[in-house]
Amino acid sequence: MNPIGTFNRIGATLVGVVILLSINGSPADTREAASKPAPKKIDPASGMIVDENWQTVRAMCSSCHSPKLFTNYGGTRETWAGLIDWMQEKQGLWEFPPAIENQILTYLSANYPPGEASRRRNLPAHQRPPNPYTSDARAEYEKKLRAGQIRSPVIETRENGEK
Ligand code: HEC
Repeated sequence: MNPIGTFNRIGATLVGVVILLSINGSPADTREAASKPAPKKIDPASGMIVDENWQTVRAMCSSCHSPKLFTNYGGTRETWAGLIDWMQEKQGLWEFPPAIENQILTYLSANYPPGEASRRRNLPAHQRPPNPYTSDARAEYEKKLRAGQIRSPVIETRENGEK
């Protein structure tokens, strides 16, 4: 075997390795992917976030009402526990074995924490009716906003396509 042939084969192997590395993404991409949490997977039928014990929660919590009732809700573990107590006292919900209740509360508080899904954002000032109790400073601000003399930071982020 001639030395140039061997050299070419090594060269071809190196090119192959470089191509594979570039297909797999640069180390910078990998680091970025690791620092961002993976987007949560949603079960299309129930609309629930797929996470540990989600099927237990689906079984326990969607026989009386749609899962939308809790996927639109958000709360701490205590809030969720209070809600379950309320349904048990007032809405005919049965008692859960402690281990099951623990799984339900862990799933709900991890995936539906306070503030995230329960409330939409305030309307920007220019879409609200005039506030009769407003201060002079606020009235002046809103007047300028309507006249286009100043810009609202909320409107700017909306124009950038955020919600
Ligand atoms: C035995 C039937 C039943 C089961 C099972 C049940 N619920 Fe409910 N739940 C109700 C009723 C009845 C209401 C009141 C519905 C209404 O107001 O229209 C309600 C309301 C709710 C609300 C809305 C509360 C509010 O403030 O409007 C949430 C959130 C909720 N349930 C979550 C859950 C979760 C989480 C589970 C599982 C642990 C669960 N439900 C299981 C009967 C049940």
